Amino acid sequence: MKLLAGNPGWTVKADVIVIGSGVAGLTTALNLRSSNLSVLLVTKARIDEGSTKWAQGGIAAALGPGDTPEAHKKDTLIAGAGLCDAQAVDVLVTEGPEAVRKLIARGAVFDKSDTGEIALTREGGHLRNRILHAGGDATGAEVSRALLAAVHDDDGIEVIENALAIDVLMSDAGRVCGVTLHVIGAGSRDGVGRALARAVVIATGGLGQVYAQTTNPSVSTGDGVALALRAGAEIADVEFIQFHPTVLWRDDSLSGQQPLISEAVRGEGAQLVNDKGVRFMVGKHPQGDLAPRDIVAIEIFKQMKESNSPHVWLDTTMIKDFPERFPTIFASCIENGIDPRKQMIPVSPASHYSSGGVKVDLTGRTSIPGLYACGETACTGAHGANRLASNSLLEGLVFGTRISADIAANIVDASEPSKRSTKDFLLSPAIKMTLQLAMSQGAGVMRSEESLRETLATLEQLSAHTSTEPCIEAWEVSNLYLLATAIVRAALERHESRGSHWRSDFPVSSNDWVKRIVQKYDQDGNWSSKLEEVKL
Ligand code: FAD
Ligand code: SIN
Repeated sequence: MKLLAGNPGWTVKADVIVIGSGVAGLTTALNLRSSNLSVLLVTKARIDEGSTKWAQGGIAAALGPGDTPEAHKKDTLIAGAGLCDAQAVDVLVTEGPEAVRKLIARGAVFDKSDTGEIALTREGGHLRNRILHAGGDATGAEVSRALLAAVHDDDGIEVIENALAIDVLMSDAGRVCGVTLHVIGAGSRDGVGRALARAVVIATGGLGQVYAQTTNPSVSTGDGVALALRAGAEIADVEFIQFHPTVLWRDDSLSGQQPLISEAVRGEGAQLVNDKGVRFMVGKHPQGDLAPRDIVAIEIFKQMKESNSPHVWLDTTMIKDFPERFPTIFASCIENGIDPRKQMIPVSPASHYSSGGVKVDLTGRTSIPGLYACGETACTGAHGANRLASNSLLEGLVFGTRISADIAANIVDASEPSKRSTKDFLLSPAIKMTLQLAMSQGAGVMRSEESLRETLATLEQLSAHTSTEPCIEAWEVSNLYLLATAIVRAALERHESRGSHWRSDFPVSSNDWVKRIVQKYDQDGNWSSKLEEVKL
């Protein structure tokens, strides 16, 4: 199955194609260069677009005095609510510190304490301070700046901006050997073309735009997971959409990317209160306001329902140096008429992170030869049912390094794309808002059989709105549709509540469900799913 697109009018070649220029794509590209492989990095907007540059709180790594990978592992497993792949977590926490050191060696500058040591803060689910941050709350911007500078200095990495990867190209032997791209460019590389390579790495980030309100930027339409699905790859854990508890509430009618109020703000003492001024997280969890994210999001949702209010409050008035410690958040609050030194911030949950994605092994290999996935697009199993705060940038660094090593060690000769024809489809961009609202209403923080069936029915109706006019908006919405369907299907199948999957009709976790839902989509557009044991 593929998306309807024009015939490729031009061809470009490299040893490896990396799709996406966030922490995952940039790290993979840079590490591939130590094996002298030529890299083509394609990215669908400007090179610095993507979630990475928006990251606020920081990067988690056991670098502080007395901290250990084992302690980091324990917190990750608890946040993951019994569904983490233990080996993937081991890799993440043990290789994490070295990956962060390498990032620092590449030029990233982190905030220091008064004694000159790297300053470490805390976020939800962490039992100790282990979050490195930069520019106060602008960690992602610094990570992105440092990696982009290194990519810029490397002549072996060719970058094509405004290049949207549409679908992968497969050889007759079933190996991925390139991608079709749409480039808004100049000269010979404009419009639809094809890029050929010996291996392809998808690092296209998250899928927050499946929902009406999200912390994710507009490029986060899950293109990589969708193109992997169409190619026949397995995806896993997609029902575990993480809703960030504290997103600045402005108006329910607003959609798209909303300003985040980092968990690190609670790490520095901020407290959640309801309409009556009651600290509702106290007594709900031993870590109170700093409980893992899924637990806080659910409690906020309950408070909002009880008080019939569109938000709760975050009291930040006790943080004396707020503008210096959180300059980005301070600016966005002021822009929205709130002074966090004197006023409480209205906050509500919004979609933030996909703990699932394209199923990969510990070297980032998908179920299709030649195709790798890295970063938020991938499902390594390290996040289980709910990612621990600040483990995502870390995952991009660690697995980007592993993938590049695996590609270098196993590189094969280039193969030619098959000439066999494949079925295609395309949906109309006009369905986007209806799709997002249906997902927010029926497959959001709380789901049930009834709400999910209603959403599925809406999605089925929307599938009739096809289009014959390929364009960026149509490709993106077709990807959103595929992912929305995958999320709802998995959420319907999982008859329990666990991590960020909360079913009002199955309110508790069940030992029968210590399993991963793995889905596939075949060449005729049929879905299938299987249950896999979790490697505990
Ligand atoms: P991204 O950084 O999203 O990059 C994806 C890239 O793929 C982009 O360049 C995009 O343009 C490109 N792309 C997408 N589709 C296509 C296509 N079809 N063709 C070509 N290119 C494509 N995590 C933490 O660990 N710590 C934090 O403090 C933190 N704070 C966050 C705050 C916010 C507001 C948000 C939104 C996320 C935060 N996260 C945080 C999560 C983390 O930022 C992301 O999970 C991580 O940056 C993802 O990196 P990535 O490289 O996988 O994807
Ligand atoms: C935050 O700063 O609260 C976001 C951290 C994350 O998503 O890991």
